[in-house]
Amino acid sequence: MVYYESLFKEMLQGQELRRPAMKKSEPAFFQRLEQAMDVHREKIRLNVLKPRWDDSVLDLTTSDFLSLSRTGRIREAFLAELARCGDFRLSASGSRVQYGNYEYILEVEREIAAFHGAETAWICHSGFYANIGVLEAIALPGDAIVFDEFSHASTGVGMKVSVAAHKIPFQHNSADSLRDVLTSLKDLDPGFTKGEKSILICVESLYSMEGDLCPLKELVSVAKEVFPNGSAQFIIDEAHSNGVIGPNGGGLVQLLGLEKEIAIRVHMCSKALGSTGGVILCNQTVRSALAQYSRCLTYSGAPSVPMVASIRAGYQLLSSGQTQKEQNHIQEIVKYFFGSLLDHPIWQEAMDEGLISVPLAEDYEQRSVLSHVVPIKVKPGHDFFLFTHLAKANMNAYPMAYPVVPKGTALVRMLFHAHNTKEEVDKIITAVGEWADEILSIERGESKNVIPSSMREFLAMQGTNGWE
Ligand SMILES: Cc1ncc(COP(=O)(O)O)c(C=O)c1O
Repeated sequence: MVYYESLFKEMLQGQELRRPAMKKSEPAFFQRLEQAMDVHREKIRLNVLKPRWDDSVLDLTTSDFLSLSRTGRIREAFLAELARCGDFRLSASGSRVQYGNYEYILEVEREIAAFHGAETAWICHSGFYANIGVLEAIALPGDAIVFDEFSHASTGVGMKVSVAAHKIPFQHNSADSLRDVLTSLKDLDPGFTKGEKSILICVESLYSMEGDLCPLKELVSVAKEVFPNGSAQFIIDEAHSNGVIGPNGGGLVQLLGLEKEIAIRVHMCSKALGSTGGVILCNQTVRSALAQYSRCLTYSGAPSVPMVASIRAGYQLLSSGQTQKEQNHIQEIVKYFFGSLLDHPIWQEAMDEGLISVPLAEDYEQRSVLSHVVPIKVKPGHDFFLFTHLAKANMNAYPMAYPVVPKGTALVRMLFHAHNTKEEVDKIITAVGEWADEILSIERGESKNVIPSSMREFLAMQGTNGWE
């Protein structure tokens, strides 16, 4: 079975309604849960665990941006590092504030802090937990958290556990909107100006869905302008930029030379680094507050030696310059993608008809750094059509719709990697072009079908119980 068939099969299996088939005698608890999930199944939108694909499928989805995982480079570096660890104890056997604060983790933290030009680094189990841990610990009672409206789910969860009195969004990447929110807080409570209360501003270096970079310099100067006393400080999530942007992949803050301006940086190791875990870069004051106030980071066993070794292996590849070629290739391939897309004969018509847009392709030649996260925005409801079309062409790029992206919008997200080639980009452009052509002909009434061919195939698998 080719990959897309097994993918469609698993997805369809997951969408079969479960509640109507349940016996009345089954516990009400599970009936209620199934009923809740049936709401998503009805729209073919229930999240299902996907079957893993092999490397013959064109990869526009994995977070292995530098190809360290698929090439085995990180595995080799990890095994060599682990061998150096000798007779290590497998478990940390305690939290960081107890037995789990062992010398090896401290040594690797010092190295990572030095690489990123930070005072300290704190390694934790994941980037998701790192964000929660910081928001839980750093905003004190009466404080405010101000966040970009497109912040990641981990920031949302972190805010739920935070005792901050105010949690206010500002418009995505808008310095004016940030200024309005900060000014409203300043007017609301003189404590912010007097330094009796603080504000933590949450941003991301590179947004997961929009793929755009944060205008960090502008935002920092707005915060300084409204609160020259320094009561407004930033936390930046560098999930997508770690390893991919900045000197030796150090991230956006380092690219912009803002190390001294940003109070907290969270770097994820589960993406370009090819390992797992999160790193919180901060000064000693924030580190002490994490140890004091974050239950998430301290009521939990510390990361084990193998995990820390895998992080060190990744950082050694970055800091020694061994990933520079991959970092450069990503820039080249994204540039080639934009150029080829804009040159495609169907592009202008598809844009004019409002079928498709790629905001990041606009003025791409003027930007010195391109993002490897490229959303193909499509008419709402069409994301799944494009996804099935690409899947049939043996490419894996997932559809995103509300609530992952704002209501009334939809996109298919393409993530570019060091292993993507120009030939692959040519195939992607051809597939997207064919798809746009088909949809436009349906919309013009020139086709006898109203449902695109790949979607018909998907639905036919359902109709004929294609998974059986
Ligand atoms: C922006 C952002 N923040 C945080 C995370 C969570 O990172 P981790 O995979 O290390 O838990 C992700 C991962 O998807 C992310 O994209």
